Amino acid sequence: MQLRRARSEDARAIAEVHVRSWKAAFPGLLPQDYLDALGPEDRLGQWQEALVSSPWPAVLVAEQEGTIVGFVAMAPSRDTDADRAVVGEIQTIYLDPPAWGGGVGLALLRAAEVELATAGFVSATLWVLATNAKARRFYERHGWATDGGTQLHDWGAFASPDVRYRRTLPAVPVGRQRRARGGDTS
Ligand SMILES: CC(C)(COP(=O)(O)OP(=O)(O)OC[C@H]1O[C@@H](n2cnc3c(N)ncnc32)[C@H](O)[C@@H]1OP(=O)(O)O)[C@@H](O)C(=O)NCCC(=O)NCCS
Repeated sequence: MQLRRARSEDARAIAEVHVRSWKAAFPGLLPQDYLDALGPEDRLGQWQEALVSSPWPAVLVAEQEGTIVGFVAMAPSRDTDADRAVVGEIQTIYLDPPAWGGGVGLALLRAAEVELATAGFVSATLWVLATNAKARRFYERHGWATDGGTQLHDWGAFASPDVRYRRTLPAVPVGRQRRARGGDTS
């Protein structure tokens, strides 16, 4: 398994993994008619835009034998109560279902933490569907904890109750740090 920075031509493969992961992970948690109707085209534009946005979001992909099996996207926090200069956000992390449970998620999570720390962020947050118990356990196993933040995420067709997780980022050796920059995220 290899991690690398995503390129603009990865948009379709990322959208396909994104949608396969939603369809496998969210039955029983999100409306089934929404999941049934969801297709890669519904996510393609979002990824095409994200992959040409600079400097954020930063997107990393995990590849196995040349095929993208997962991705993570990060940026300065979008939360109104956050100091965007020091709080980064893991916006999204998804694996293709056959890759679940094989260590790829942890590799992507750790790489995103290092990337944010290197950019100068001190801590990071992420939002997760409150009922996504598997993902919540995954984050909790790896050093993340709820910070009391909640929100209703408006997806248009429905709204999901999300909870926020937070962690202090690892210290980055002096000399590797870059200044965190602002900029809109997708
Ligand atoms: C969350 C995710 C990134 C974690 O990465 P991972 O490499 O699979 O991490 P883990 O190996 O620790 O497994 C996470 C959970 O998925 C479960 N899992 C692993 N393989 C599975 C499979 N084939 N089918 C169902 N669940 C599986 C694991 O058992 C674990 O749950 P547990 O705590 O009940 O044991 C990844 O599982 C994923 O993409 N899940 C679906 C999308 C999602 O929820 N993303 C997060 C949105 S905030």
